[in-house]
Amino acid sequence: MEELIARIRKDGKALNSDVLMVDSFLNHLVDPMLMKKIGDEFASHFAKCGITRVATIESSGIAPAVMAALALNVPLLIMKKASSSILSDDVCLTTQVHSFTKNTDYMLMCKRQFLTPGENVLFIDDFLANGEAGFGAARLIEEAGCHVAGIGIVIEKSFQDGAKKLEKAGYEVYSLAKIAKLDNGVIEFA
Ligand code: G4P
Repeated sequence: MEELIARIRKDGKALNSDVLMVDSFLNHLVDPMLMKKIGDEFASHFAKCGITRVATIESSGIAPAVMAALALNVPLLIMKKASSSILSDDVCLTTQVHSFTKNTDYMLMCKRQFLTPGENVLFIDDFLANGEAGFGAARLIEEAGCHVAGIGIVIEKSFQDGAKKLEKAGYEVYSLAKIAKLDNGVIEFA
């Protein structure tokens, strides 16, 4: 997506070889007009997939995901990060996710009542690095008896292997910007 790539070139900052800072339009301060165009792009790409629900993980996935849900005219499910595992299995679906970027584990959860069997779900997230969040979300969606129709990513770090692993597992990954390399002050697109 040209406009997103131009914005990353203008306002993104490579902190080091791993982390791209985009907190002036995506992660902290949010540009709603850009989010609207991102949502429209996801909706247009997945228009023929019969999406019945968009899902994301709190918090930075919410802005692009709500715009995609609006454009597709379906509800948005926000998967929550729970600090403990004392969540009733009858009520909640849970799975453990490891973040390599942040070097932490967290429980991902959603209430069963909001993910009823048969939904066709588009999962959207802000970043794709190692794919752990994507796999965690897919586990919850499939455990609920639903189908992962696709994965929409705002910024894929293609030098990490998340996209390859998710595609190998059979998921369609559609990334709007692909970063080939980061270095202190350098951003190279794939
Ligand atoms: P993975 O799911 O692909 O394996 O990625 P990983 O766990 O390594 O990273 C997930 C968290 O780190 C996400 O935030 C994601 O947005 C953030 N992240 C990963 N790479 C970058 C990067 O280059 N720049 C920035 N700004 N963030 C990155 P989170 O823990 O879910 O927090 P939140 O911001 O959504 O609340």
